[in-house]
Amino acid sequence: MTNWQAKATRMVEVITASGELRTPLWQQVFRAVPRHHFVPVYYTPDDGGGWREHPSGEPGWLEAVYDDRTLITALVDEDGPCGVQQIPVSSSTAPALMAHMLEELEITPGMRVLEIGTGTGYHAAVLCAALGQDNVVSVELRPELVSAAGKRLAELGYHPVLRAADGRDGLAEHAPYDRIIATCAVPAIPAAWISQLAPGGVLLTDLKGGLAAGNLVKLSRNGGGALSGRFLPWWAGFMPMRHEQHIALVPVPHGEASTRRATTVPPFLLDEPVFAFLAQLHPPAGTSLRVRGEDNGSLSTVLVAPDGSWCQVAHEPGGHRRAPGCRGRSAAVVGSGGRHRAVGGAGATLLGAAESDRRTRRTTMGLGER
Ligand SMILES: C[S@@+](CC[C@H](N)C(=O)[O-])C[C@H]1O[C@@H](n2cnc3c(N)ncnc32)[C@H](O)[C@@H]1O
Repeated sequence: MTNWQAKATRMVEVITASGELRTPLWQQVFRAVPRHHFVPVYYTPDDGGGWREHPSGEPGWLEAVYDDRTLITALVDEDGPCGVQQIPVSSSTAPALMAHMLEELEITPGMRVLEIGTGTGYHAAVLCAALGQDNVVSVELRPELVSAAGKRLAELGYHPVLRAADGRDGLAEHAPYDRIIATCAVPAIPAAWISQLAPGGVLLTDLKGGLAAGNLVKLSRNGGGALSGRFLPWWAGFMPMRHEQHIALVPVPHGEASTRRATTVPPFLLDEPVFAFLAQLHPPAGTSLRVRGEDNGSLSTVLVAPDGSWCQVAHEPGGHRRAPGCRGRSAAVVGSGGRHRAVGGAGATLLGAAESDRRTRRTTMGLGER
């Protein structure tokens, strides 16, 4: 047994002991497919707000690859409020989460599977090893990731259908699919996925809106055109699905707001998952929420709608949830950049509640799963 095989075997033992890997098929596949082949480099946050590269061969690289953790595998430069920043756009999902989702899907040999979010190609390789390459279709937004994944898969003898395209549209020419699994989060189930799911088929994705509230949801087509199902109790935090016209966070000008008001909404309200899930249905599709540091060291939350309208919530001292017995109170500023002023107002109310521990949430969202 080679060094990596010993590590993969150990990883399978750990995930099996945790209960996430149950069936011999997946245990065998996770032992056999070399994750390190798909993760020649990964990145971790450095102390200066940037990223540290961990290339193959670096001491500890192989151990990290066969540890049960999500690894950031691709960064891109993107304009942000503080200038150009490196943003993580792809990761290799933590193996236990992959296993959990695959087991949940009750995939059996002969099924056809559509994966949304090829990323490194590791998950596609796992599917190929279990089902055969002819039953695997994988769509990825970023062409450079598709070509790298395709090369790695081919080196192991796998040639699934790969396509550089927006996964929101599925891949109609190879439909129907018995299973659809998305490894990025969507704010709503795309209509194409529903129509491309075979009768009796099952779809599993992370369903989260602009406030990042939601979870894995498993939906089945049981007769007719509609899907039904439930959220799963196992929390996951996948990267949000992006689109070619990605909505970058626009810098919010200080002191140019048209409306100011205060909110007494308690800061912990959006920690209540059902409330947060329902609240995020109100802002327009594509609204994003970010946290930024202010010059005085405080944090403020910014909500940006696709048309450029925005609102900012500056959190006043004393409103932090960790202050014992405090009442949340945030100063809300609603911008006038577009058609969505009313939405901005609603966002401000919500953001006042959201202020509490967004820092933690942002880390989770930015770094992928778990
Ligand atoms: C968590 S990573 C995928 C992990 C991958 N399954 C693996 O094994 O490495 C999520 C991926 O979804 C991709 N993605 C984001 N938006 C997408 C879209 N609209 N269509 C297809 N893929 C998308 C990202 O580029 C990223 O590679």
